Amino acid sequence: MEKREVWASRIGLILAAAGNAIGLGNLLRFPSKVALYGGGAFMIPYFISLFLLGIPLMILEWIIGRYAGQKGHGSMVGIMGAFFNQSKIARSIGTFGVAIPFLIVCYYIYIESWTLGFAVMAILHKMPSPGHLASSESAMRPFLHFFKTYTTPSIWAVVFLVITLALNWYLLLRGITKGIEITAKIGIPCLLLMGIFLSFVSLGMNHWKGLQGLYFIFKPNFSKLSDMQVWVEAAGQIFFTLSLAMGAIATYASYVKPNEDVLKTGLYTAGLNEFVEVFIGGSIAIPAAFAIFGAASIPVLAKQGTFRLGFISMPAILMSLPYGSILCFMWFALLFIAALTSSLALIQPMVALFEDEAKMSHSSAVNISMILVTIGACLSAWIPGFIDDVDFWAGTLFLLISAFIEIIAFVWLFGFNNFYKELTRDVFFKIPKSWAVIAYTASIVFIAVLFYFWAISKLPVFLKQTNVYLLVSRGFILFTILLLVGVAIKTSPQKE
Ligand code: PHE
Repeated sequence: MEKREVWASRIGLILAAAGNAIGLGNLLRFPSKVALYGGGAFMIPYFISLFLLGIPLMILEWIIGRYAGQKGHGSMVGIMGAFFNQSKIARSIGTFGVAIPFLIVCYYIYIESWTLGFAVMAILHKMPSPGHLASSESAMRPFLHFFKTYTTPSIWAVVFLVITLALNWYLLLRGITKGIEITAKIGIPCLLLMGIFLSFVSLGMNHWKGLQGLYFIFKPNFSKLSDMQVWVEAAGQIFFTLSLAMGAIATYASYVKPNEDVLKTGLYTAGLNEFVEVFIGGSIAIPAAFAIFGAASIPVLAKQGTFRLGFISMPAILMSLPYGSILCFMWFALLFIAALTSSLALIQPMVALFEDEAKMSHSSAVNISMILVTIGACLSAWIPGFIDDVDFWAGTLFLLISAFIEIIAFVWLFGFNNFYKELTRDVFFKIPKSWAVIAYTASIVFIAVLFYFWAISKLPVFLKQTNVYLLVSRGFILFTILLLVGVAIKTSPQKE
């Protein structure tokens, strides 16, 4: 067997972890959710979820990844096995932590390819020119048309999807240090610079009218605290943006040195991600729309879907400025870098499964994973409703279940004292025992409450849907789970 890789440097590890977490979630999903759920009203549940769910789970995933990595396991299947005496049941349950990121990447990578396509279109002056800015509708009309034609999918969409798949494939083949780590070391500093620059451009628009957009986001608003829907969405955003309950962080953590201070790394990951989400993600799309189209446009845009702000309103605004093509290129390049470092992280758990558990060579593990991702990406491109359906099952239902199982299994079933020993080994700060007990009890209760409200409000609506395309998405989800459970059981090693 090839020796398991470890991250080459501390800074490389931190940037790779930041690359994992920082993605389209920060720059597209966050502003859309904030706009949809009323700005300051969303931010209170958001920060509460960050502290109650985000930080405890982030630390937990780094701890379990470091522990299992030493034993040669990096996918959630292997991690579950390492903690629970290679039980086949535990390993099968661990397939959640491979299925979720895999299913998500099937559409994530398709959206990633749009960002690349739009960046290239902008630099080649192929973007439409904006309509009159006086009316947001007429300003955006050409871009709406452009977006719809592009994502039909057009021939260009297919070309850029192929390029995006090939790039991910190539970088994953290069492996942890030469592929993922180097991409993050170059990409994340560029991302930060471009992000900060575009924040200033957006806030400064129309004589700094963009600043009013910040006021909308940060002005505390207690009016929606009793609306459970807002809580569910805020918690969902925390999971998505921090890459939690998907196995993706734990997989990266499995490639650390045995005595790495993962507590510090986990806190850095969360800190960098929140900086990019709240400050950069919050300072671009919403302030720009505020400044140019006015406050009233925000809820309207948000209701029209997640892609409105990023793919339609932003280019319409940027293209109307001097050097519009360059600014527009920068915006989509920023999104592309963010997405690329995340899609690598979404695929790596599956690569780790095939490599560590099925004992395949690195290249075979990458090839099989990428073939499956390619199939999923094509379904996302051509099957109507596929993206929404997969996002519903993998991105919401499975996610809540998986978060619940992670805490119950690794903290409580593994034994609190055993977990606490790992939590306080080789770290800069010894978290007091009482804090840990409180945090990992509160988070469980919180998830259970969220699950209850989600199940009574959203589940029935979704279960009522019927159309033939759903057979494809649900068939694909079922196929994925059966395949992964099969691998988990078949490759189960002798009990340790
Ligand atoms: N956190 C990423 C984002 O914000 C998405 C992601 C989820 C990446 C899970 C890796 C694993 O876009």
